[in-house]
Amino acid sequence: MGDSAPVIAALRPAGDGPLDREALLELYGRPGAARGAGPWTRVNFVSTADGSATGPDGRSGGISTPADKMVFGVLRRLADVVLVAAGTVRDEQYHGPLVSAGQRAWRAANGLAEHPGFVIASRRLDLDPAADVFTDAPVRPLIATVAAAPAAARAALSEVADVVDCGEEQLDPVLLREAIGERGWLDVLCEGGPSFFGALASAGVVDELCLTVSARLVAGDGPRIAHGAPADLELQLAHVLRSDAGDLLLRYTR
Ligand SMILES: NC(=O)c1ccc[n+]([C@@H]2O[C@H](COP(=O)([O-])OP(=O)(O)OC[C@H]3O[C@@H](n4cnc5c(N)ncnc54)[C@H](OP(=O)(O)O)[C@@H]3O)[C@@H](O)[C@H]2O)c1
Repeated sequence: MGDSAPVIAALRPAGDGPLDREALLELYGRPGAARGAGPWTRVNFVSTADGSATGPDGRSGGISTPADKMVFGVLRRLADVVLVAAGTVRDEQYHGPLVSAGQRAWRAANGLAEHPGFVIASRRLDLDPAADVFTDAPVRPLIATVAAAPAAARAALSEVADVVDCGEEQLDPVLLREAIGERGWLDVLCEGGPSFFGALASAGVVDELCLTVSARLVAGDGPRIAHGAPADLELQLAHVLRSDAGDLLLRYTR
């Protein structure tokens, strides 16, 4: 324990009233573009109050809330590229455009590419080239993999995506960040999942964590939002928002 006592302040009922979408866009911003010095990796997760990253159905959808979905959409709107690991692509419904017509119009009006780029991280390349995540993609996805990935899968996926090696046996998040930077993407939105977030954290390739704590208790054996190799990153609390449903919307930066 340090010498000075911690300062604990009430958030509720403090605050300036409801934040609309424009206010949220302003609050979250585009820190990568603002910094202009290489990619900024923002990671977005939802967790239950008891720390589970999935609900009883083994997916994150069941623990998400309207406020979480609103911030999820705001973050996609602001991103140059969305980065997702293969496990989450396989488990969740990733397909077609990542942004709606309204989001595209907002992006175009604000100087962003109409569609964000899309990067999938996979070592084994156990991904179906005929899946609509590829066939309906408005921009050609980028698959980040390793030199040791199976050659046949690499050849098949190269028909529908650009494939880049970011390591020999293990995908190195530092090399991945370089590959993203080479494409000029500054604001990177990583949407998971927990194994991959653990790898990013352990490599120190995390600049920001946006975390919704939903007012749910699920017990069970769901994963934490990051697991795997240990990491010890100090975070600074940038903001805490609360929704009328009792969610906490936390933003941490490094
Ligand atoms: N609560 C939330 O906000 C949230 C967000 C996202 C996902 N989820 C949930 O998380 C679950 C999936 O998570 P998951 O942890 O099983 O999978 P994941 O982290 O999404 O993906 C793991 C996969 O990523 C690939 N990968 C590439 N490089 C890696 C590295 N350095 N370290 C680890 N993996 C690497 C591997 O793909 P290959 O096997 O192809 O080699 C690995 O199997 C789903 O249930 C989903 O609903 C929750």
